[in-house]
Amino acid sequence: MATAKKATSAKLKIGTKTIDLPVFYGSENEGAIDIQSLRKETGFITYDPGFGNTGCCKSDITFIDGEKGILHYRGYDINDLAEHCEFIDVAYLLVHGKLPNEKQHLSFSKHLNHHSMLHEDMHHFFDNYPDHAHPMATLSAMAVSLSSFYPELEQTKKESIDMMVTRLISKLRTIAAFSYKKSIGHPMVQPRHDLKYCENFLNMMFWTPVNDYKLDPVCVKALNKLLILHADHEQNCSASVVKMVGSAEANLYASISAGICALWGPLHGGANQHVIEMLETILKRDKGNIKKVIERAKDKNDPFRLMGVGHRVYKSYDPRAKVAKQMCKDVLAKLGVNDPLVDLAQKLEEAVLADDYFQSRNLYPNIDFYTGLTYRAMGIPTNMFTVLFAIGRIPGWIAQWLEMKEDPDGRIGRPRQIYTGPTLRSFE
Ligand code: CMC
Repeated sequence: MATAKKATSAKLKIGTKTIDLPVFYGSENEGAIDIQSLRKETGFITYDPGFGNTGCCKSDITFIDGEKGILHYRGYDINDLAEHCEFIDVAYLLVHGKLPNEKQHLSFSKHLNHHSMLHEDMHHFFDNYPDHAHPMATLSAMAVSLSSFYPELEQTKKESIDMMVTRLISKLRTIAAFSYKKSIGHPMVQPRHDLKYCENFLNMMFWTPVNDYKLDPVCVKALNKLLILHADHEQNCSASVVKMVGSAEANLYASISAGICALWGPLHGGANQHVIEMLETILKRDKGNIKKVIERAKDKNDPFRLMGVGHRVYKSYDPRAKVAKQMCKDVLAKLGVNDPLVDLAQKLEEAVLADDYFQSRNLYPNIDFYTGLTYRAMGIPTNMFTVLFAIGRIPGWIAQWLEMKEDPDGRIGRPRQIYTGPTLRSFE
């Protein structure tokens, strides 16, 4: 947050001791107090459950202004990127720091295609998952398994890292589509070199030996846009997990696998699946009674929360949700889909925005509120929604992991605590 006169240090008085702590600012004027010397100089630590006030790094990747509802990747506004780019351009931007030119775009696209197949032995893994396995469990397990198929790579060499990045972005998409095919008992569809990244995913999901799936440009564009909206979100829960695991020098595959698990949680990326399940429950069980669900969400004795509403950082409308909402309307109109859940979602949003409980806490629809409705219209099953969030987020996780590796201030992640258990007891 900008201040009229920028402070260069902060004074902290604890008891009789006063210390000076350095203050610094980011390129968008966000200020931070550097407390690295705090414990050494005072014996105290900071207490910040959920890390709401804790900066863990300096970063060049993503900027969010939660008060104004702004999101930039590498300085570009999310609206511009969603409107004008393909997902792989944004993936390139996040990982390499600049948008690709035409030659770089073609070369990256080709590279992704050349590494899209899975090792034949990995195909057999799918045989032993039950049909009802959640695809996020499969995705995470397969992500870490990649490290055992490509163990020879050294983490530090640039070419090795580029190869790992390509493999992860390309193969996890193949794994995602295979896990869907496995869940419905259909044969797996191989990626094709003549198709681009998003087209390939849709083809692997929906082509069958008896039905030659025809790619719809509306769905291809929508998928590109949705993946772009998800591509990074600075130090969120899953990115922090990826970095925490990586800080112990675990390899990138293992770090991404852990990030996938974190993302699965319903308070994080898992919310998109839960939004649709919530809307279905309201429609079927509660006969569309929105008032009832709003009252439940406000009741402090009920753990229920409105899914797809609220955000740790956004205290105004999530800019990704704005794009996702408009896209949902456009895509459904173009595909000629009439989904009663869309009307219900709009009514629920209106009720949220008009309610003092949500207003006073700055709770607005987030990215997950409308994305599932678009995926549904595209024929993507509910349990694949979080998988798509993960596919979109892979470049962001990778960019954050790589940046952490280069950080001169980087150390193993290891928070402290205040112990409140019993003091030493005699053992008798
Ligand atoms: N429904 C009802 N009340 C809510 C909700 C909600 N969805 N979200 C927050 N609140 C209330 C909360 O009870 C608290 O009230 P009080 O001040 O009276 O105790 C207040 O708002 C602040 O909430 P908080 O839990 O301190 O906020 P947080 O920053 O720790 O949590 C959140 C953020 C996203 C986990 C939370 O808003 C939530 O659970 N939302 C629903 C799940 C969801 O949609 N998650 C997707 C987030 S966007 C995708 C991603 O990047 O992960």
